[in-house]
Amino acid sequence: MITAGPTREYLDPVRFLTNASSGKMGFALAEKAVAMGWKVDLVSGPVALEPPRGVRMHSVVSTDDMFAAAEPLFGTCDVLIMVAAVADYQPVHRAVQKIKKTTSRMTVDLIRTTDILSTLATGKDRQVVVGFAAETNNLEEYARKKLVDKGLDWIVGNDISRPEVGMEVDDNQVLLLSATGVRLLFGPAPKPEVANFILENVRASVESARMKV
Ligand code: CTP
Repeated sequence: MITAGPTREYLDPVRFLTNASSGKMGFALAEKAVAMGWKVDLVSGPVALEPPRGVRMHSVVSTDDMFAAAEPLFGTCDVLIMVAAVADYQPVHRAVQKIKKTTSRMTVDLIRTTDILSTLATGKDRQVVVGFAAETNNLEEYARKKLVDKGLDWIVGNDISRPEVGMEVDDNQVLLLSATGVRLLFGPAPKPEVANFILENVRASVESARMKV
């Protein structure tokens, strides 16, 4: 299973909180995984991309929707690659009608969403679980912390402070870390090449996890 794109958290019927994720990295991974012969469930938030040929597409909007789609699929998958840039907060109240501008300031009350990755990783048995860490600073430190705190097998760190790589654009540069101590740098390179690099490295641990069962 691969998750991709942003999630959206609606304030009212037309306004929402989201982020700049284009879905390109997740869709590139899905396409390469199909080419490697894997069966791929692609769970994606709203993006302007055609689903790669051969994937089973699950389109979602909010973090709650993504969790609801991903949770039942997790039990059936061998590897989860969570590329999605998931909204960490959602409005406490979603207005049924469009909010009118009646005051000069407004405050929006937000509440944490479910951490999909760490919730699923807590219940893993044979699954190899891969997370992404998009950071503007302290990339390696924060990526390592997420690897440990979320109970992951791999984390892909990417520096989003540089406009030529990372979110929205066609290229990426990644720091790949594993729970077993692997530390590899790759790129800058087009996202399909980065996808290949990630999948080649993850494939070995997927095969050894299969042999353990
Ligand atoms: N993630 C998730 N559910 C969330 C938030 C994040 O599954 N509610 C996943 C992302 O898909 C990614 C990883 O967790 O694989 C790290 O996401 P990131 O946004 O970098 O980190 P956060 O855990 O949200 O921490 P912070 O925003 O504080 O950096």
